[in-house]
Amino acid sequence: MFAAKTIDSSDKAAFYRDLVAQLKALLEGERDSIANAANTSALIFQMVPDLNWAGFYFLASDEELVLGPFQGKPACVRIAVGKGVCGTAVDLDMSMLVKDVHDFPGHIACDADSRSELVVLLRDNDGVFGVLDLDSPTPGRFDKEDQAGIEKLAAIYVAASSFED
Ligand code: SME
Repeated sequence: MFAAKTIDSSDKAAFYRDLVAQLKALLEGERDSIANAANTSALIFQMVPDLNWAGFYFLASDEELVLGPFQGKPACVRIAVGKGVCGTAVDLDMSMLVKDVHDFPGHIACDADSRSELVVLLRDNDGVFGVLDLDSPTPGRFDKEDQAGIEKLAAIYVAASSFED
């Protein structure tokens, strides 16, 4: 049984170092991409303070993301590439750190409580194939250290999982 260990989040660098170690341990020996996405979102939602949503969207085609495993309230299923924060991340090929979603034109509100958002890309040798999305009810919740930490967690998820058809 895997038991997530509470970690002190006052030192973000140390916090993400510990979380990286916990995610590696959690995914070790399992290649199923859906099971690993489910457990990755559960670990993040349990461990990262002040979130109201954490989960995955995967590209179903070049034009559209489809909802994957997540924690939080039920969410929008399909997001067009170029739309919302998630679709914009794919379109621009970069992580998106949105301090206040009310200031982001085209933000898609799945949960009215969300006030800030961090979206990082899932990338393998063939390019971007999805995103990992975190929402918080607190404006300005995420900073560059959170972005770097969550990008590392996304990379661990990708490396641990198999995406062959
Ligand atoms: N806010 C996102 C939509 C997904 S939910 O946050 C879960 C967006 O604008 O793309």
